[in-house]
Amino acid sequence: MSDILTENKELLVLGIESSCDETAASVIKGCREVLSNVIYSQIDLHTVYGGVVPEIASRGHIEKINQVVKKALSEAGKELKDMDAIAVTYGPGLVGALLVGVAHAKALGWAAGVPVVGVNHIEGHICANFIDNPSLEPPFMCLVASGGHSHLVNVTGYGEYEIIARTRDDAAGEAFDKVARAIGLGYPGGPKIDKESKNGNPDAIDFPRAKVRENEYDFSFSGLKSAVLNYLNSCNMKGETINSADVAASFQKAVVDTLVGHSMQAAKDRGVKKFAIAGGVASNTSLREAFEKECAAAGIEFMRPQPIYCTDNGAMIGVAGSYEYLLGYRSGLDLNAVPNLSIGDRKGVFKI
Ligand code: KG4
Ligand code: ZN
Repeated sequence: MSDILTENKELLVLGIESSCDETAASVIKGCREVLSNVIYSQIDLHTVYGGVVPEIASRGHIEKINQVVKKALSEAGKELKDMDAIAVTYGPGLVGALLVGVAHAKALGWAAGVPVVGVNHIEGHICANFIDNPSLEPPFMCLVASGGHSHLVNVTGYGEYEIIARTRDDAAGEAFDKVARAIGLGYPGGPKIDKESKNGNPDAIDFPRAKVRENEYDFSFSGLKSAVLNYLNSCNMKGETINSADVAASFQKAVVDTLVGHSMQAAKDRGVKKFAIAGGVASNTSLREAFEKECAAAGIEFMRPQPIYCTDNGAMIGVAGSYEYLLGYRSGLDLNAVPNLSIGDRKGVFKI
């Protein structure tokens, strides 16, 4: 086990997350142990609109953040003054939503004299893997697939990330959400397509798997999304009945084939020994099964967080923040939301 872990078993960090439609907070001990994990999901507020409405999301965070943080502390049996640091997501995400968490963290930190450290949401998703895999240490490769992002990342050390591939257009989760809406499954689409697919034939419709010429590992999902929409339109025009379970299963298979195919190619090319997945789409049952199978065949150790740590949560921010804190990173009262923050970019933090 690396020094960074053995020397800091008592470290306590409060993680706060408000980048999209979950208001979440968690207390993390010793970088990886989850003492509490409170998530208030705004799904009910947005379902009626078929997607996240940014203004409603910010308002929802303002209404809930105080009680979510208090609950996280009390469930952990801790007080704010016990914390060594407050870790908060400052990007990427919706600016108005991020600002609520950032302002709350700064106010708490200032009032209690606890240092604040800004955390990158995507790096948080990756670090969720440390929770259920106590022996996991870098280097490893990770596929992050969420509603806003699809990245293949090499984690070369704690807090060190090298981007191998990204999506050229839609994120994988975004494609799930758009296709679910088109076949009338509603929001949020990923879990609904996952469920509906179990009743369908994944080989019923041959949807395209896009390749990007400039970087063979990059992803592109907008063509696939259009192919599904064209298929639905053409069925409607011909008066044919649409089997939504077959559409869902065939679409899901195309996404899974692409994510797994590109990732495994990159992992093999680079001689990777450990592979992890993260982000909302990482809860997809078919994706998890496909990675399990392919990694086993290639002799690569495979890791994935349990679904509660795949979706947006405060624990992953607390874990990522614990390492950032130990690496000496801090944020000041001037910490601001950075909606388009890239992986590995530390715009809002400085080293002490
Ligand atoms: O990581 P996340 O909770 O929020 C973002 O950072 O975006 O990811 C949400 C995305 C949504 O697009 C949702 O439809 C997708 O993850 N998702 C899934 C599943 N569960 C959530 N996609 C496919 N299968 C699932 N089971
Ligand atoms: Zn997320």
